[in-house]
Amino acid sequence: MSWPTWLPLRKDLQPLTPYGAPQIPADATLNTNENPYPPSLELQNAIGQAVGKVATTLNRYPDRDADVLRAKLATYINEASSTQVHVENIWAANGSNEIIQSIFLAFGDGTALGFTPSYSMHSLIAKVAGTNWIDGARNSDFTFNLDLAIQAVQTHKPVLTFITTPNNPTGDSITLSDISALADIVAEHGGLLIVDEAYAEFSQETSATTLVTKKPHVIVIRTMSKAFAFAGARLGYLVADANVVDSMMLVRLPYHLSALTQAAAEVALDHRRELLAGVQSLIHAREALALSLHELGLKSLPSSANFLLFTGFSASAPQLWASLLEKGVLIRDVGLSGYLRVTIGNEAENKRFIDALEQLL
Ligand SMILES: Cc1ncc(COP(=O)(O)O)c(C=O)c1O
Repeated sequence: MSWPTWLPLRKDLQPLTPYGAPQIPADATLNTNENPYPPSLELQNAIGQAVGKVATTLNRYPDRDADVLRAKLATYINEASSTQVHVENIWAANGSNEIIQSIFLAFGDGTALGFTPSYSMHSLIAKVAGTNWIDGARNSDFTFNLDLAIQAVQTHKPVLTFITTPNNPTGDSITLSDISALADIVAEHGGLLIVDEAYAEFSQETSATTLVTKKPHVIVIRTMSKAFAFAGARLGYLVADANVVDSMMLVRLPYHLSALTQAAAEVALDHRRELLAGVQSLIHAREALALSLHELGLKSLPSSANFLLFTGFSASAPQLWASLLEKGVLIRDVGLSGYLRVTIGNEAENKRFIDALEQLL
């Protein structure tokens, strides 16, 4: 992108392009790892009522610290992972992307390390925040390699080390024992280990939230955008030592989380059983879709998330992506040569995707 000379845009931002999956209308939208199940009528009404109540006091600023919401998030995490975290261990923001940004603002003085391919916003937010970013390596099949990770931490001594589990876009999980071992090495160099668990609810691995009370330098990022089917509301959070949460309060904007968002998210958490019920069907659909891809002669990587990265087609990834779009199916070209990523949709969307592929291969 070329910028006009009169615009004093920071030099380090000038070569960047904005992040964003194309928002193109399609019959099957399978490109951003959203949950295909809309809120039930009962939940829509409950959110409507809660938001209606808040609407009567919109002349006032919201609870700056979102205490009620954070307490509900703590209850959910304790229920899901048998932890004993409290409101002071939780920070909430507008999506986990805002959480990532706040982490860089608070702690990004030095080098940050991640193991690619992984979630591209980690490195992009690092650049925007002015933190030096280093791409660490994975195995050639894209799985996480603890030895390589330890070596990279020992070489670069990063202040922030990012791991994503299950990883986006590859779908593989990192075991708790690997996370724990890496956390100890990170601590030796005075850094923080950031574990992005955006897709944790789809995985059988024990969550890194179980490490937080023993290892205060571990920060776990979670979101309601995926398993909770709540992407439009924008609610992400972290689980960490209380000192990390206190640091977030230094960098957050005052009243960053609107009263409307807080009210809607509180209702969604009260309906968590219903919302999370979709997770099991998505896991089954993921396995069925992997099998269908295999039957078409393609190969998908083992995934414990709500998407599959697949390969084995003869066209280039951008070509196949465009041909699928012509057939009304929008998936994701993540920029890995020979690979495309598809989000698990509802039954009709998954069928539409497989039918379209069958015609194209
Ligand atoms: C690994 C990972 N982390 C974080 C996010 C951001 O999610 P949100 O900002 O919707 O909470 C995503 C979104 O796709 C993701 O894949």
